[in-house]
Amino acid sequence: MPCPALPDGFDFTDPDVLQHRVPLPEFAELRRVEPVRWIPQTSNLAGFQDEGYWAVTRHADVKYVSTHPEIFSSYLNTAIIRFNDHIERDAIDAQRLILLNMDPPEHTRVRQILQRVFTPRAIRALEANLRARAQAIAANARARSGTFDFVTEVACELPLQAIAELIGVPQEDRAKIFDWSNRMIAYDDPEYAITEEVGQESATEIIAYAMNMAAARKQCPAKDIVTTLVAAEDEGNLGPDEFGFFVLMLAVAGNETTRNAITHGMHAFLTHPEQWELFKAERPATAAEEIVRWATPVNSFQRTATQDTELGGKTIRKGDRVGLFYASANHDPEVFDHPDVFDITRDPNPHLGFGGGGPHFCLGKSLAVLEIDLIFNAVADALPGLRLTGDPRRLRSAWINGVKELPVSAG
Ligand code: HEM
Repeated sequence: MPCPALPDGFDFTDPDVLQHRVPLPEFAELRRVEPVRWIPQTSNLAGFQDEGYWAVTRHADVKYVSTHPEIFSSYLNTAIIRFNDHIERDAIDAQRLILLNMDPPEHTRVRQILQRVFTPRAIRALEANLRARAQAIAANARARSGTFDFVTEVACELPLQAIAELIGVPQEDRAKIFDWSNRMIAYDDPEYAITEEVGQESATEIIAYAMNMAAARKQCPAKDIVTTLVAAEDEGNLGPDEFGFFVLMLAVAGNETTRNAITHGMHAFLTHPEQWELFKAERPATAAEEIVRWATPVNSFQRTATQDTELGGKTIRKGDRVGLFYASANHDPEVFDHPDVFDITRDPNPHLGFGGGGPHFCLGKSLAVLEIDLIFNAVADALPGLRLTGDPRRLRSAWINGVKELPVSAG
């Protein structure tokens, strides 16, 4: 039975639909009535460049698609970034170098190399440094008088520092890497006066910077992560352009996502004061995962069917686009008790904020959880009386659930 709640022309990838109403009530209706639904496309943002897509809204179906890459390919773009014709490199080739847009066996080869950087040991080695940075960020914010923006003063810095630490960007280059990253993720938001061209120039600069790093290490290997990735002797390594696109992806995938999880988390705490009191008193380790479930910073990614197949009682044709709506799956009552309640003690919490499992599951999950944990512990220590002084200003985006500004005061 078609979903009665969706008006004609309703499109989940329209930024105006997403902007003010997350999680969308329409998701609840679709999960119940028509969990796999064809949506004719009215917006071409988020990489849904075709005429329409299947909206997959149930937790079980999002997991199924994510874990069957042989049926649902990532190759035809999962939409991390769009390139214009004026970018010299051929647009399609460029997309191919992004891990998110690869299928096995190429994906398996590159992912195995990258996994050397994301071992539990490597992440643990960053912890002391990141804890000190989180404490310094919170202490600086405490020194602010009056209203300040939580996004710029608190949420932005740690994700960028973590990526810079991880790949070993020297301190003196961090400001320009941060600047390029920030410009790149301001897309789709006219108020920021950053055009798509500026965003894409920044992407090109990041790639060039990282390719230079790779070339230097190839010539002169050091005991660092770049060397591990580009100049490992026996185990296979990344080409300089593969490394360039990896750093580009981190600058988006590891930056904006974590920043938004932190900002949404703070907003959730300040609008659920009993959860904030509980966090300050008990610091439950389960809080970070609930923050990601609640925030679901990546609203959706997409796949393309490689063959005719069935899903949720519908026939998906070869070549059809399939949108995985994590934001919906994370509120599926089949999986979560009281899904619309923010509960930092939720355990187990099999949310799909980091993806639905399968080969593309978020490579940076442990790092992200660590960052969220460290920043909220630091804020709880330094700014226990933090309070909201206005409404969040949301990012206008088709696939990121983002907040550009959150006015707060130290209390
Ligand atoms: C992939 C979410 C933080 C690196 C993904 C995917 C999602 C996601 C939904 C796609 C999964 C799929 O298609 O199945 C998030 C969220 C984060 C976060 C919500 C923060 C709260 C990070 C961080 C890093 C990172 C900190 C690295 C520094 C990656 C990479 C991929 C990825 C490299 C691509 C993996 C692949 O294609 O094999 N992430 N992410 N992410 N994420 Fe994250």
